[in-house]
Amino acid sequence: MARLILVGPPGSGKGTQAEKICQASSIAHISTGNMLREEIASKSELGKKVESVLASGKLVSDEIVIELIQERVKKPDCKNGFLLDGFPRTETQADALDALLSKSGIPITHVIELQVDEEDLVQRLLNRAKIEGRADDTEEVIRKRLEVFHAQTKPVIDHYRKLSGVFHSIDGAGSVDEVFKKIEEKLR
Ligand code: AP5
Repeated sequence: MARLILVGPPGSGKGTQAEKICQASSIAHISTGNMLREEIASKSELGKKVESVLASGKLVSDEIVIELIQERVKKPDCKNGFLLDGFPRTETQADALDALLSKSGIPITHVIELQVDEEDLVQRLLNRAKIEGRADDTEEVIRKRLEVFHAQTKPVIDHYRKLSGVFHSIDGAGSVDEVFKKIEEKLR
């Protein structure tokens, strides 16, 4: 059973590649960013609480996202496996995931890191801003998200980097299909 974590900075292509991987392997795509944006769009209590946090580029509290994940992995579509996109992002979240998985006795099978040059990331997200208008895709907030990534998420990735046979670093700079091909090779 595939249990993947896709990691990388904002704009590295996690969401884009996650959709292709999940479609190809019939596993559930779990994106904490998408889940939080759905809460905001539905104007739920949780959505109202987190809206300004997402718009600022900072991270939502560990407590909130851990609870979202704990509930989400219980859903029937996760039976064949799942891909985590945007989680874990802090050491506390990584510890909570370890605890959750050790309870079920099935470990993470792959951690895929996408690496893209920082100025290319900014450009990709500024391009997306013109199409989708995401509140956090302004240059100022993009730079904040990158700063948060380096301070809080990079150490988590460096922790997974030590898992030989599980951790794979991919150059995320080519076309969407080229990057997907490289990921497929690692998943085989
Ligand atoms: P989240 O939604 O996870 O955003 P992110 O990590 O900043 O990532 P993005 O969605 O911007 O980029 P991506 O890597 O998915 O790339 P994508 O495929 O979209 O989180 C948003 C916010 O939610 C956080 O800031 C935080 O506030 C909160 N949050 C979420 N999870 C949390 C957690 N665990 N803890 C606490 N808070 C949390 O691609 C980007 C663009 O590039 C697209 O336009 C795409 O078409 C394009 N593109 C993709 N691949 C390529 C390519 N190969 N070549 C050219 N363009 C490409």
